[in-house]
Amino acid sequence: MKQGHFITMEGVDGSGKTTQLQLTARYLLDCGYDVVTTREPGGTKMAERLRSLVLDADAAINARTEVLLYLAARAEHVETVIKPALAAGKLVLCDRFADSTKVYQGFVRGIAKEKLDFLCDFAAENLVPELTIMLDAAPEALLQRRADRGVSDRFEQEGLDFQKKVREGFLMLASAEPNRIKRVNALQNVDAVQENIRKILKSAGF
Ligand code: TYD
Repeated sequence: MKQGHFITMEGVDGSGKTTQLQLTARYLLDCGYDVVTTREPGGTKMAERLRSLVLDADAAINARTEVLLYLAARAEHVETVIKPALAAGKLVLCDRFADSTKVYQGFVRGIAKEKLDFLCDFAAENLVPELTIMLDAAPEALLQRRADRGVSDRFEQEGLDFQKKVREGFLMLASAEPNRIKRVNALQNVDAVQENIRKILKSAGF
């Protein structure tokens, strides 16, 4: 039976993650993997409904409510999409997963680590990605890049201090788990970022 693989992509908002996820999926398909791309929050009908709830909620949403919505979406996603795909020998490439929860709801919103670790394991039934690609960039530089392109979105609404804290959280996670989480400089052009990602995949045996 073919072995399934679970890879995630993480990073600050506006780091070009969605573009790189698509390019990475195409590359892995060309390598012969049966690739399933998906995202969090989302990936199932119910989880997409939870996604619109949690992403549309106003900034005053209680941190506990917020984390439970993200984790409810994850439980659904893991159970109905990710685990069955892995069991069928597919390669699941997921846009965000538990590292985002640990950064946004833990490090930034302040939910205690031991509680969050327990809740994340519970929601994902202890599923951990075998490889995580983290697109990293200083938020100041991303803000400039977006302003040059005339993009205005949640990245700006949440503010620079918020994004700086998000980045700090991801860098902490990456240094705590260097074998799983691989950092890529997101400020390079699209081709160079993709080249780095392919190198990482190759050295991880993909
Ligand atoms: P999205 O529009 O997909 O952002 P991006 O394209 O940058 O990934 O929205 C996802 C947002 O949800 C993003 O700001 C990160 C946040 N998030 C959490 O706060 N906790 C989580 O557990 C997950 C999965 C995402």
